[in-house]
Amino acid sequence: MADIFEKIQANRGPIGMHAKESHGYFTFPKLEGDIGPHMHFRGKEKLNWSLNNYLGLANHPEVRNADAEAGSNFGFAMPMGARMMSGNSNLHEQLERELADFVSKEDSILVNFGYQAMVSAIDCLVDRHDVIVYDAESHACILDGVRLHMGKRYVFKHNDIEDCEKQLERATKLAEETGGAILVITEGVFGMRGDQGYLKEIVALKKKFNFRLFVDDAHGVGTLGATGAGTGEEQGVQDDIDVYFGTFAKSFAMIGGFIASDAQVVEYLRYNMRSQIFAKAMPMPLVAGALKRLELIRTQPELKSKLWEITNALQSGLKNAGFEIGPTNSCVTPVYLNGSIPESTNLIYDLRENYNIFCSMVVYPVVPKGMIILRLIPTAVHTMEDVNYTIESFSKIVGKLKAGEYMSETIAKV
Ligand SMILES: Cc1ncc(COP(=O)(O)O)c(C=O)c1O
Repeated sequence: MADIFEKIQANRGPIGMHAKESHGYFTFPKLEGDIGPHMHFRGKEKLNWSLNNYLGLANHPEVRNADAEAGSNFGFAMPMGARMMSGNSNLHEQLERELADFVSKEDSILVNFGYQAMVSAIDCLVDRHDVIVYDAESHACILDGVRLHMGKRYVFKHNDIEDCEKQLERATKLAEETGGAILVITEGVFGMRGDQGYLKEIVALKKKFNFRLFVDDAHGVGTLGATGAGTGEEQGVQDDIDVYFGTFAKSFAMIGGFIASDAQVVEYLRYNMRSQIFAKAMPMPLVAGALKRLELIRTQPELKSKLWEITNALQSGLKNAGFEIGPTNSCVTPVYLNGSIPESTNLIYDLRENYNIFCSMVVYPVVPKGMIILRLIPTAVHTMEDVNYTIESFSKIVGKLKAGEYMSETIAKV
Protein backbone atom coordinates (compact mmCIF):
# COMPACT_ATOMS: atom_id res chain seq x y z
CA MET A 1 0.00 0.00 0.00
CA ALA A 2 1.25 3.47 -0.83
CA ASP A 3 1.80 6.31 1.59
CA ILE A 4 0.49 9.74 0.59
CA PHE A 5 3.63 11.56 1.76
CA GLU A 6 5.89 9.10 -0.10
CA LYS A 7 3.86 9.60 -3.29
CA ILE A 8 4.17 13.35 -2.94
CA GLN A 9 7.89 12.99 -2.38
CA ALA A 10 8.21 11.08 -5.66
CA ASN A 11 5.88 13.22 -7.74
CA ARG A 12 6.21 16.94 -7.14
CA GLY A 13 3.74 18.01 -9.86
CA PRO A 14 4.38 19.61 -13.28
CA ILE A 15 5.70 22.92 -11.93
CA GLY A 16 6.78 21.77 -8.49
CA MET A 17 9.26 19.32 -10.07
CA HIS A 18 11.36 22.37 -11.01
CA ALA A 19 11.04 24.05 -7.60
CA LYS A 20 14.66 23.46 -6.60
CA GLU A 21 16.07 25.40 -9.54
CA SER A 22 13.32 27.95 -9.94
CA HIS A 23 11.96 28.87 -6.49
CA GLY A 24 12.42 32.54 -5.70
CA TYR A 25 13.33 33.46 -9.28
CA PHE A 26 11.06 31.97 -11.96
CA THR A 27 8.49 30.88 -9.40
CA PHE A 28 7.54 32.71 -6.19
CA PRO A 29 9.68 35.79 -7.04
CA LYS A 30 9.42 38.62 -4.53
CA LEU A 31 8.58 42.02 -6.02
CA GLU A 32 9.14 44.71 -3.43
CA GLY A 33 8.26 48.39 -3.03
CA ASP A 34 5.07 50.24 -3.91
CA ILE A 35 3.01 48.43 -6.53
CA GLY A 36 3.64 49.99 -9.93
CA PRO A 37 5.69 49.71 -13.11
CA HIS A 38 8.97 50.15 -11.24
CA MET A 39 9.51 47.70 -8.40
CA HIS A 40 12.49 46.00 -6.83
CA PHE A 41 13.48 42.39 -7.44
CA ARG A 42 16.45 41.04 -5.50
CA GLY A 43 17.45 44.55 -4.53
CA LYS A 44 17.45 46.04 -8.05
CA GLU A 45 14.81 48.17 -9.76
CA LYS A 46 12.96 46.44 -12.58
CA LEU A 47 10.47 47.67 -15.16
CA ASN A 48 7.52 45.51 -14.27
CA TRP A 49 4.89 44.21 -16.75
CA SER A 50 3.58 41.33 -14.69
CA LEU A 51 0.78 42.73 -12.51
CA ASN A 52 -2.91 42.97 -13.38
CA ASN A 53 -3.06 46.44 -11.82
CA TYR A 54 -4.74 47.59 -15.06
CA LEU A 55 -6.06 50.98 -13.92
CA GLY A 56 -3.20 51.72 -11.56
CA LEU A 57 -5.53 51.68 -8.57
CA ALA A 58 -3.20 49.62 -6.35
CA ASN A 59 -1.24 52.67 -5.37
CA HIS A 60 -3.76 55.41 -6.14
CA PRO A 61 -3.60 57.92 -3.23
CA GLU A 62 -7.39 57.91 -2.71
CA VAL A 63 -7.38 54.10 -2.60
CA ARG A 64 -4.48 53.97 -0.16
CA ASN A 65 -6.23 56.50 2.08
CA ALA A 66 -9.56 54.68 1.93
CA ASP A 67 -7.87 51.34 2.71
CA ALA A 68 -5.98 52.79 5.68
CA GLU A 69 -9.04 54.56 7.03
CA ALA A 70 -11.24 51.48 6.70
CA GLY A 71 -8.58 49.30 8.34
CA SER A 72 -8.42 51.67 11.26
CA ASN A 73 -12.20 52.18 11.56
CA PHE A 74 -13.30 48.58 11.30
CA GLY A 75 -10.32 46.24 11.77
CA PHE A 76 -10.14 43.05 9.72
CA ALA A 77 -12.29 40.87 11.97
CA MET A 78 -15.52 42.64 11.22
CA PRO A 79 -18.03 41.26 10.42
CA MET A 80 -17.66 37.91 12.17
CA GLY A 81 -19.36 34.87 10.69
CA ALA A 82 -20.88 34.02 7.33
CA ARG A 83 -23.20 36.56 5.70
CA MET A 84 -26.27 34.35 6.29
CA MET A 85 -25.58 33.82 10.00
CA SER A 86 -24.00 36.91 11.55
CA GLY A 87 -21.76 38.54 8.95
CA ASN A 88 -24.07 40.84 7.00
CA SER A 89 -23.77 44.65 6.97
CA ASN A 90 -25.24 47.70 5.27
CA LEU A 91 -21.92 48.33 3.55
CA HIS A 92 -21.87 44.82 2.03
CA GLU A 93 -25.38 45.37 0.67
CA GLN A 94 -24.52 48.85 -0.62
CA LEU A 95 -21.51 47.48 -2.51
CA GLU A 96 -23.65 44.70 -4.01
CA ARG A 97 -26.23 47.21 -5.21
CA GLU A 98 -23.58 49.50 -6.69
CA LEU A 99 -21.81 46.63 -8.46
CA ALA A 100 -25.09 45.37 -9.91
CA ASP A 101 -25.84 48.86 -11.14
CA PHE A 102 -22.35 49.15 -12.64
CA VAL A 103 -22.76 46.01 -14.76
CA SER A 104 -26.47 46.64 -15.49
CA LYS A 105 -27.88 43.69 -13.60
CA GLU A 106 -30.65 43.54 -11.03
CA ASP A 107 -28.49 42.38 -8.14
CA SER A 108 -25.08 40.99 -7.23
CA ILE A 109 -23.46 38.86 -4.54
CA LEU A 110 -20.00 39.51 -3.11
CA VAL A 111 -17.53 36.63 -3.10
CA ASN A 112 -14.33 36.33 -1.11
CA PHE A 113 -12.16 34.81 -3.85
CA GLY A 114 -12.90 34.83 -7.57
CA TYR A 115 -11.56 31.35 -8.19
CA GLN A 116 -13.63 29.77 -5.42
CA ALA A 117 -16.69 31.73 -6.46
CA MET A 118 -16.61 30.48 -10.03
CA VAL A 119 -16.20 26.85 -8.88
CA SER A 120 -18.96 27.25 -6.33
CA ALA A 121 -21.38 29.19 -8.55
CA ILE A 122 -21.13 26.55 -11.30
CA ASP A 123 -21.73 23.84 -8.69
CA CYS A 124 -24.70 25.80 -7.35
CA LEU A 125 -26.40 26.65 -10.65
CA VAL A 126 -26.62 23.16 -12.14
CA ASP A 127 -27.86 19.77 -10.98
CA ARG A 128 -27.17 16.30 -12.38
CA HIS A 129 -29.89 16.60 -15.02
CA ASP A 130 -28.37 19.79 -16.48
CA VAL A 131 -25.76 19.97 -19.22
CA ILE A 132 -22.76 22.33 -19.28
CA VAL A 133 -21.27 23.54 -22.57
CA TYR A 134 -17.95 25.38 -22.14
CA ASP A 135 -14.93 26.74 -23.99
CA ALA A 136 -11.89 24.44 -24.14
CA GLU A 137 -9.45 27.16 -23.06
CA SER A 138 -11.42 28.17 -19.99
CA HIS A 139 -9.62 29.27 -16.82
CA ALA A 140 -8.94 26.63 -14.15
CA CYS A 141 -11.80 27.97 -12.02
CA ILE A 142 -14.30 27.08 -14.77
CA LEU A 143 -12.69 23.68 -15.41
CA ASP A 144 -12.74 22.89 -11.70
CA GLY A 145 -16.37 24.02 -11.40
CA VAL A 146 -17.23 21.75 -14.33
CA ARG A 147 -15.38 18.89 -12.61
CA LEU A 148 -17.79 19.16 -9.69
CA HIS A 149 -20.78 18.82 -12.02
CA MET A 150 -22.57 15.47 -11.60
CA GLY A 151 -24.22 15.63 -15.03
CA LYS A 152 -22.91 15.75 -18.60
CA ARG A 153 -20.64 18.40 -20.06
CA TYR A 154 -19.62 19.17 -23.62
CA VAL A 155 -16.55 21.21 -24.45
CA PHE A 156 -16.29 23.31 -27.62
CA LYS A 157 -13.03 24.23 -29.36
CA HIS A 158 -11.77 27.59 -28.20
CA ASN A 159 -13.88 30.42 -29.63
CA ASP A 160 -15.14 28.08 -32.37
CA ILE A 161 -18.78 28.99 -32.86
CA GLU A 162 -19.47 26.15 -35.29
CA ASP A 163 -18.25 23.68 -32.69
CA CYS A 164 -20.17 25.51 -29.95
CA GLU A 165 -23.32 25.06 -32.04
CA LYS A 166 -22.53 21.36 -32.53
CA GLN A 167 -22.09 20.88 -28.78
CA LEU A 168 -25.33 22.78 -28.13
CA GLU A 169 -27.15 20.38 -30.46
CA ARG A 170 -25.80 17.42 -28.46
CA ALA A 171 -26.58 19.17 -25.18
CA THR A 172 -30.12 19.95 -26.29
CA LYS A 173 -30.80 16.32 -27.21
CA LEU A 174 -29.52 15.17 -23.86
CA ALA A 175 -31.30 17.84 -21.82
CA GLU A 176 -34.55 16.89 -23.54
CA GLU A 177 -34.03 13.32 -22.32
CA THR A 178 -33.04 14.24 -18.75
CA GLY A 179 -35.47 17.12 -18.38
CA GLY A 180 -32.49 19.30 -17.50
CA ALA A 181 -31.34 22.72 -18.69
CA ILE A 182 -28.19 24.00 -20.44
CA LEU A 183 -25.56 26.35 -19.01
CA VAL A 184 -22.95 27.77 -21.43
CA ILE A 185 -19.79 29.04 -19.75
CA THR A 186 -17.06 31.12 -21.33
CA GLU A 187 -14.78 34.06 -20.59
CA GLY A 188 -14.95 37.73 -21.49
CA VAL A 189 -11.19 37.84 -22.07
CA PHE A 190 -8.94 34.79 -22.21
CA GLY A 191 -6.08 35.69 -19.92
CA MET A 192 -3.20 33.97 -21.73
CA ARG A 193 -3.77 35.07 -25.33
CA GLY A 194 -5.89 38.13 -24.55
CA ASP A 195 -8.58 37.32 -27.13
CA GLN A 196 -12.15 38.18 -26.15
CA GLY A 197 -14.71 35.39 -25.93
CA TYR A 198 -17.13 35.38 -28.87
CA LEU A 199 -19.98 36.55 -26.66
CA LYS A 200 -21.96 38.20 -29.46
CA GLU A 201 -21.89 35.04 -31.52
CA ILE A 202 -22.78 32.82 -28.56
CA VAL A 203 -25.65 35.14 -27.66
CA ALA A 204 -26.90 34.87 -31.27
CA LEU A 205 -27.20 31.10 -30.74
CA LYS A 206 -29.90 31.82 -28.16
CA LYS A 207 -32.26 32.27 -31.11
CA LYS A 208 -31.78 28.60 -31.97
CA PHE A 209 -31.09 27.00 -28.58
CA ASN A 210 -32.44 27.33 -25.09
CA PHE A 211 -29.58 28.02 -22.66
CA ARG A 212 -28.27 30.45 -20.06
CA LEU A 213 -24.89 32.15 -20.49
CA PHE A 214 -22.38 32.51 -17.62
CA VAL A 215 -19.38 34.77 -18.39
CA ASP A 216 -16.19 35.00 -16.35
CA ASP A 217 -15.06 38.56 -17.07
CA ALA A 218 -12.04 38.70 -14.76
CA HIS A 219 -9.88 40.61 -17.26
CA GLY A 220 -12.74 42.55 -18.90
CA VAL A 221 -14.31 44.29 -15.92
CA GLY A 222 -12.85 47.78 -15.63
CA THR A 223 -10.86 47.54 -18.87
CA LEU A 224 -13.47 47.04 -21.61
CA GLY A 225 -16.74 48.73 -22.57
CA ALA A 226 -17.62 52.43 -22.71
CA THR A 227 -18.10 52.65 -18.93
CA GLY A 228 -15.69 49.86 -18.00
CA ALA A 229 -18.56 47.44 -17.37
CA GLY A 230 -16.67 44.75 -19.27
CA THR A 231 -16.70 42.58 -22.37
CA GLY A 232 -20.50 42.32 -22.58
CA GLU A 233 -20.73 46.10 -22.76
CA GLU A 234 -17.85 46.20 -25.26
CA GLN A 235 -19.66 43.75 -27.57
CA GLY A 236 -23.13 45.23 -26.96
CA VAL A 237 -24.54 42.06 -25.36
CA GLN A 238 -24.41 42.77 -21.64
CA ASP A 239 -28.17 42.22 -21.27
CA ASP A 240 -27.85 38.76 -22.81
CA ILE A 241 -25.24 37.60 -20.31
CA ASP A 242 -27.36 35.80 -17.76
CA VAL A 243 -24.75 35.43 -15.02
CA TYR A 244 -21.75 37.77 -14.90
CA PHE A 245 -18.60 37.30 -12.82
CA GLY A 246 -16.06 40.03 -12.11
CA THR A 247 -13.00 39.74 -9.88
CA PHE A 248 -11.54 42.42 -7.61
CA ALA A 249 -8.08 40.94 -8.18
CA LYS A 250 -7.26 42.82 -11.40
CA SER A 251 -8.71 46.27 -12.31
CA PHE A 252 -9.93 46.76 -8.76
CA ALA A 253 -6.44 45.92 -7.39
CA MET A 254 -7.84 44.13 -4.36
CA ILE A 255 -9.14 40.64 -3.57
CA GLY A 256 -12.58 39.08 -3.87
CA GLY A 257 -15.18 39.65 -6.55
CA PHE A 258 -18.87 39.51 -7.38
CA ILE A 259 -21.48 37.63 -9.36
CA ALA A 260 -24.31 39.66 -10.90
CA SER A 261 -27.57 38.43 -12.39
CA ASP A 262 -31.36 38.64 -12.09
CA ALA A 263 -32.50 39.35 -8.53
CA GLN A 264 -34.02 35.90 -8.05
CA VAL A 265 -30.85 34.16 -9.30
CA VAL A 266 -28.68 36.21 -6.93
CA GLU A 267 -31.02 35.40 -4.06
CA TYR A 268 -30.72 31.73 -4.97
CA LEU A 269 -26.90 32.03 -4.94
CA ARG A 270 -27.04 33.86 -1.59
CA TYR A 271 -28.91 30.97 -0.01
CA ASN A 272 -27.22 28.08 -1.82
CA MET A 273 -23.67 28.89 -2.91
CA ARG A 274 -21.58 26.77 -0.58
CA SER A 275 -18.35 28.81 -0.77
CA GLN A 276 -20.22 31.79 0.71
CA ILE A 277 -22.72 30.22 3.07
CA PHE A 278 -20.04 28.10 4.73
CA ALA A 279 -17.36 30.81 4.89
CA LYS A 280 -16.73 34.05 6.73
CA ALA A 281 -18.01 37.24 5.11
CA MET A 282 -15.69 39.63 3.26
CA PRO A 283 -13.94 41.83 5.87
CA MET A 284 -15.25 45.37 6.17
CA PRO A 285 -12.05 47.15 5.03
CA LEU A 286 -12.22 45.22 1.76
CA VAL A 287 -15.85 46.17 1.28
CA ALA A 288 -15.09 49.84 1.95
CA GLY A 289 -12.01 49.57 -0.27
CA ALA A 290 -14.04 48.08 -3.13
CA LEU A 291 -16.60 50.88 -2.83
CA LYS A 292 -13.82 53.47 -3.23
CA ARG A 293 -12.33 51.62 -6.19
CA LEU A 294 -15.73 51.35 -7.88
CA GLU A 295 -16.28 55.07 -7.35
CA LEU A 296 -12.94 55.82 -9.04
CA ILE A 297 -13.62 53.45 -11.93
CA ARG A 298 -16.93 55.23 -12.51
CA THR A 299 -15.80 58.81 -11.99
CA GLN A 300 -12.28 58.76 -13.46
CA PRO A 301 -12.66 57.39 -17.00
CA GLU A 302 -9.26 58.89 -17.76
CA LEU A 303 -7.71 55.89 -15.96
CA LYS A 304 -9.15 53.54 -18.58
CA SER A 305 -8.20 55.95 -21.41
CA LYS A 306 -4.60 56.01 -20.17
CA LEU A 307 -4.57 52.21 -19.89
CA TRP A 308 -5.63 51.95 -23.53
CA GLU A 309 -3.16 54.61 -24.67
CA ILE A 310 -0.36 52.49 -23.19
CA THR A 311 -1.91 49.22 -24.44
CA ASN A 312 -2.29 50.52 -28.00
CA ALA A 313 1.24 51.95 -28.06
CA LEU A 314 2.71 48.69 -26.73
CA GLN A 315 0.74 46.43 -29.06
CA SER A 316 1.24 48.49 -32.23
CA GLY A 317 4.90 49.12 -31.33
CA LEU A 318 5.53 45.40 -30.90
CA LYS A 319 3.75 44.58 -34.16
CA ASN A 320 5.67 47.28 -36.04
CA ALA A 321 8.90 45.86 -34.67
CA GLY A 322 7.94 42.47 -36.20
CA PHE A 323 6.70 40.68 -33.10
CA GLU A 324 3.87 38.17 -33.19
CA ILE A 325 1.23 39.11 -30.58
CA GLY A 326 -1.58 36.87 -31.84
CA PRO A 327 -5.30 37.63 -31.74
CA THR A 328 -5.37 39.80 -28.61
CA ASN A 329 -8.11 42.43 -28.52
CA SER A 330 -7.77 43.23 -24.84
CA CYS A 331 -4.99 44.72 -22.72
CA VAL A 332 -3.32 41.33 -22.25
CA THR A 333 -0.28 41.44 -24.54
CA PRO A 334 1.44 38.12 -25.29
CA VAL A 335 4.63 38.04 -27.35
CA TYR A 336 5.02 34.68 -29.10
CA LEU A 337 8.53 33.31 -29.60
CA ASN A 338 9.97 29.94 -30.56
CA GLY A 339 12.45 28.17 -28.34
CA SER A 340 13.08 25.39 -25.88
CA ILE A 341 12.46 25.61 -22.14
CA PRO A 342 16.19 26.08 -21.34
CA GLU A 343 16.32 28.85 -23.96
CA SER A 344 13.28 30.53 -22.44
CA THR A 345 14.74 30.51 -18.94
CA ASN A 346 18.08 31.88 -20.19
CA LEU A 347 16.20 34.57 -22.09
CA ILE A 348 14.14 35.60 -19.06
CA TYR A 349 17.30 35.64 -16.96
CA ASP A 350 19.01 37.95 -19.46
CA LEU A 351 15.90 40.16 -19.68
CA ARG A 352 15.68 40.49 -15.91
CA GLU A 353 19.36 40.83 -15.03
CA ASN A 354 20.75 42.78 -17.98
CA TYR A 355 17.74 44.76 -19.27
CA ASN A 356 15.97 45.06 -15.90
CA ILE A 357 12.59 44.04 -17.35
CA PHE A 358 10.33 41.79 -15.31
CA CYS A 359 7.51 39.99 -17.13
CA SER A 360 5.82 36.61 -16.95
CA MET A 361 6.79 33.72 -19.16
CA VAL A 362 4.49 30.93 -20.29
CA VAL A 363 5.94 27.67 -21.63
CA TYR A 364 4.96 24.02 -22.16
CA PRO A 365 2.70 22.43 -20.81
CA VAL A 366 0.53 25.60 -20.73
CA VAL A 367 1.35 26.23 -24.43
CA PRO A 368 2.59 23.73 -27.05
CA LYS A 369 6.20 22.48 -26.86
CA GLY A 370 8.65 24.87 -28.51
CA MET A 371 6.51 27.95 -27.92
CA ILE A 372 7.45 30.68 -25.46
CA ILE A 373 5.03 33.44 -24.50
CA LEU A 374 6.31 36.57 -22.81
CA ARG A 375 3.15 38.01 -21.28
CA LEU A 376 2.96 41.76 -20.75
CA ILE A 377 0.22 43.49 -18.77
CA PRO A 378 0.12 47.21 -19.54
CA THR A 379 -1.36 49.53 -16.92
CA ALA A 380 -2.52 53.14 -16.67
CA VAL A 381 0.63 53.96 -14.68
CA HIS A 382 3.15 52.83 -17.31
CA THR A 383 4.72 55.52 -19.48
CA MET A 384 5.63 55.79 -23.17
CA GLU A 385 9.31 55.58 -22.11
CA ASP A 386 8.53 52.21 -20.49
CA VAL A 387 6.88 51.07 -23.74
CA ASN A 388 9.72 52.22 -26.00
CA TYR A 389 12.45 50.82 -23.77
CA THR A 390 10.67 47.44 -23.65
CA ILE A 391 10.26 47.18 -27.42
CA GLU A 392 13.93 48.09 -27.98
CA SER A 393 15.05 45.55 -25.37
CA PHE A 394 12.78 42.84 -26.79
CA SER A 395 14.28 43.39 -30.25
CA LYS A 396 17.74 42.82 -28.78
CA ILE A 397 16.86 39.65 -26.86
CA VAL A 398 15.02 38.16 -29.83
CA GLY A 399 18.12 38.81 -31.96
CA LYS A 400 20.08 36.79 -29.41
CA LEU A 401 17.41 34.05 -29.32
CA LYS A 402 17.53 33.70 -33.11
CA ALA A 403 21.34 33.65 -33.07
CA GLY A 404 21.19 30.68 -30.67
CA GLU A 405 22.80 32.60 -27.81
CA TYR A 406 20.37 31.23 -25.26
CA MET A 407 20.96 27.63 -26.31
CA SER A 408 21.97 25.64 -23.27
CA GLU A 409 21.32 22.21 -21.90
CA THR A 410 20.89 23.47 -18.38
CA ILE A 411 18.39 25.87 -16.92
CA ALA A 412 19.86 29.32 -16.18
CA LYS A 413 21.60 29.50 -12.82
CA VAL A 414 19.63 31.66 -10.40
C1 LIG B 1 -10.33 34.32 -16.05
C2 LIG B 1 -10.13 34.28 -14.58
N1 LIG B 1 -11.12 33.83 -13.80
C3 LIG B 1 -10.99 33.78 -12.46
C4 LIG B 1 -9.83 34.17 -11.84
C5 LIG B 1 -9.72 34.02 -10.36
O1 LIG B 1 -9.95 35.24 -9.74
P1 LIG B 1 -9.36 35.57 -8.29
O2 LIG B 1 -7.92 35.93 -8.47
O3 LIG B 1 -10.24 36.70 -7.85
O4 LIG B 1 -9.52 34.35 -7.44
C6 LIG B 1 -8.78 34.66 -12.61
C7 LIG B 1 -7.55 35.13 -11.96
O5 LIG B 1 -6.49 34.64 -12.16
C8 LIG B 1 -8.92 34.71 -14.02
O6 LIG B 1 -7.94 35.16 -14.79
